Amino acid sequence: MAEAREQWHSRAAFIMAAVGSAVGLGNVWRFPYVAYSSGGGAFLIPYFVALFTAGIPLLILEMGLGQRLQRGAPLAFGAIRKPLQWFGWWVAGLSAAIVIYYTTILAWSWTYLWHALTQAWGDQPETFFFETVLRRSEGPGEIGWPVGPLVIGMALTWLLIYLILRKGVRSVSKVVMVTVPLPMLLLAVLLVRGLTLPGAIDGIRYYLTPDFSMLTDWRIWLKAYGQIFFSLSLASGVMIGYGSYLGKKAEVTNSALITGLANCGTSFFAGFVVFSMLGYLANVQGVAVPDVTTSGSGLAFVTFPTAISQLPALNALFGVIFFVTLLTLGIDSAFALQEAFTTGFHDKWGVHPEKLARVFVLIAFPISLIFVTRGGYFWFDIVDKWICDFGLVISGLAQCLIVGFLYRVREFRDYLNEQSEVRLGNWWIWALRYVTPGVLSVILVANLLEEIKVGYGGYPRWATLIGGWGTVLLWGVLGFVLWRRPQNSDRVNARGED
Ligand code: TRP
Repeated sequence: MAEAREQWHSRAAFIMAAVGSAVGLGNVWRFPYVAYSSGGGAFLIPYFVALFTAGIPLLILEMGLGQRLQRGAPLAFGAIRKPLQWFGWWVAGLSAAIVIYYTTILAWSWTYLWHALTQAWGDQPETFFFETVLRRSEGPGEIGWPVGPLVIGMALTWLLIYLILRKGVRSVSKVVMVTVPLPMLLLAVLLVRGLTLPGAIDGIRYYLTPDFSMLTDWRIWLKAYGQIFFSLSLASGVMIGYGSYLGKKAEVTNSALITGLANCGTSFFAGFVVFSMLGYLANVQGVAVPDVTTSGSGLAFVTFPTAISQLPALNALFGVIFFVTLLTLGIDSAFALQEAFTTGFHDKWGVHPEKLARVFVLIAFPISLIFVTRGGYFWFDIVDKWICDFGLVISGLAQCLIVGFLYRVREFRDYLNEQSEVRLGNWWIWALRYVTPGVLSVILVANLLEEIKVGYGGYPRWATLIGGWGTVLLWGVLGFVLWRRPQNSDRVNARGED
């Protein structure tokens, strides 16, 4: 007798886990900047349009698919059409690739947590980041050895992931009750500190002053869709995997709505934290806010440390708070990604969660060390760019078309409506079949043209071919192998059997 599938402790645990995967570094280091540079307060219009026409519909689709089929991405797509299991493994493989490079940011954060105690970055935080911490080489061709302190950060990160995942979703249920509210609380502390500093209001003004004229630029709309898509962790199989641990009678639609709104609310909120600090920094340095405004790793590891050094008191404390925020924001995204991949092995071959967690970490940890070598920063940048701009966009597009046209989508909607507090109308089907695929196609073509015409980041072609297309295609091949390996039906769900 196959034993019952593992389940979340409660609906709250499921929502927390979904929010934990969605709320990540993107909310802090990407959203505020995108909003600021795309019309400030006016950006909220395309942002919410994107949320309701693409983000939430897709979130409902992914959670609903996992919940209805009770399987993670590989076997869920395989249940729609047999050969689509290949696609499912590819999607899950993307999430394996993401977690392997995503842990790099956590490794940096661990070392910064240490340096925050003394503000070791001094008055040259940029040199400190690239030369002292990353020991960055000249280019992707010069890889060198892994950097000691970063290896320790990596090891800590993987150890945590292993400890959290080894007992399956039951332990995830408990962990997310800490890793989701804690960073929000810490952000609130930072916000109070930020808002009470001189210049904070100028920063906020830059962040939110609406410029409605920008809304006539279609690229702003694409940015809004791109940001929503990334921020809700769509198209990587994560939400399908998490949905598959819901009970058969569980409600999906409203949970997706809550997840989407909580995530976007956090982004909006984080913008106040970031821009109040930037306003203060500009004030101290006597420059305009745009001169200190950045996004990405520059914001977290260069600009924020600068601001922390400038605080009038308790610098070490606020430094520690900031990097603990980054770590707790990132860790739940990381284990969600690993879970999205390993769920497929549990579904197909009945591998026990502990063994899955152990084997995955033992393979992934050494691979991830590539990203903390001296040339690792460049490879991190390339892999990140390709997965987000090509891998996830292609996956999202395919996913909409598969469910929109190959799966009986009306029946699916009625199924969801039966067990939900919120009823889905035809708009949901429209969003899946036409709106989202349309927007994603435009994004994909624009990205491809840009790649062909100008390349990326000034890197040599061979590097982007290997790191970028190589990573995306490698999973096409590995996915094929995993798809062809026969299912071990008598061992499915046999606990402890491998
Ligand atoms: N949503 C995450 C963030 O905002 C980033 C992300 C994108 C992600 N896709 C993902 C996280 C898949 C986990 C799983 O930082």
